[in-house]
Amino acid sequence: MIRVGIYGATGYTGQELVEILLGHPQAELGFLTSETYRGKKYSEVLPCACEMPLAGAAEADVSSVEAVFVCLPHTTAMEKIAEIYGPGLKIIDLSADFRFGSPDEYARWYGVEHKAPELIGHSVYGLPELFRERIPGAGIVGNPGCYPTGAILALAPAASAGLLGGDARVIIDAKSGVSGAGRKADLMYNFVEVSEDIRPYKIGRAHRHVGEMESVLGSLAGNAVGVVFTPQLAPFSRGILYTIYLDSGGADLARVRRLYERAYAEEPFVCLLPPEEPARLAYVRGNNACVIGLHRVEGSKTVVITAAIDNLVKGASGQAVQNFNLLFGLPETTGLSSVPGRLVR
Ligand SMILES: NC(=O)c1ccc[n+]([C@@H]2O[C@H](COP(=O)([O-])OP(=O)(O)OC[C@H]3O[C@@H](n4cnc5c(N)ncnc54)[C@H](OP(=O)(O)O)[C@@H]3O)[C@@H](O)[C@H]2O)c1
Repeated sequence: MIRVGIYGATGYTGQELVEILLGHPQAELGFLTSETYRGKKYSEVLPCACEMPLAGAAEADVSSVEAVFVCLPHTTAMEKIAEIYGPGLKIIDLSADFRFGSPDEYARWYGVEHKAPELIGHSVYGLPELFRERIPGAGIVGNPGCYPTGAILALAPAASAGLLGGDARVIIDAKSGVSGAGRKADLMYNFVEVSEDIRPYKIGRAHRHVGEMESVLGSLAGNAVGVVFTPQLAPFSRGILYTIYLDSGGADLARVRRLYERAYAEEPFVCLLPPEEPARLAYVRGNNACVIGLHRVEGSKTVVITAAIDNLVKGASGQAVQNFNLLFGLPETTGLSSVPGRLVR
């Protein structure tokens, strides 16, 4: 068994990780941290059968584990990682702190200096479907952001095939459940504020995840890719539903579909839906899948792409376990559930 620790086990991504890892045949929980509830048992704080005690992050015995999942706010995460990084420890960071290849890019989008720039060279971007071969040897895996995960998977075959050429611009509309903002108390996420409403926010290029999307899509396309992004807070607890508008540069839908079929034929967690069937949150709730639908616009070169993920699973903790499996040479699907069986490619 591989012993693992979770920093920030009481947050939404931490809770999801505890659930997944309790069912993982090769992982064993070594420590769980919380500042607010240190000293209490996990089961006293959350509706989960886990009887482990919660330790403060400073007290957790990192020498007793082979891997850690860091589910802390950005900035706090890199401070902890700088403290614990070393040989023999694999680190999977769910925060944004190791998602960029350069400290300047990080500072540009997050507005703070990177506190461990010397470690960026030891990290990889953990989107297995695109960068699988880089992950096993890494010391730190920067787990992708929730919005970028589905958006990048929904556009990667088009980007790699040169359909996002020149000064390409893609329009991404995404509706996210409230857990995407974490467990903090904030009036914006109060039940009364959220229910029976859908609220766009940080429209255009204002959301930090635009940097991550543009960086990865640009590297796949081999040229700059401009993203116009409209995130929306929607009244459900989990899930992200995307509607993406792609100018296919003249490629017809049949060609676009062939590209996606080829790219994802062997992927256990990416499901290309039957022609014209739209992605739905119901397909991905609680599982590690990304479902993608491709749609024709009559009389136009625009292709509409619908996609869905569960932000806490493929958008965070499930993907983190996918990366953990790769780091330890386990089958990538170990401990993870995929799309419902009725969804055939
Ligand atoms: N939510 C999502 O959908 C999602 C998706 C992808 C990535 N992420 C990223 O994953 C990370 C965790 O997100 P989350 O949604 O799980 O957050 P969350 O629900 O707000 O939980 C944060 C966790 O970090 C702990 N914590 C907070 N401040 C701390 C500090 N100064 N020192 C030590 N521990 C501290 C909290 O512990 P106590 O409150 O118990 O003290 C809690 O366990 C964030 O960086 C987030 O951006 C989130």
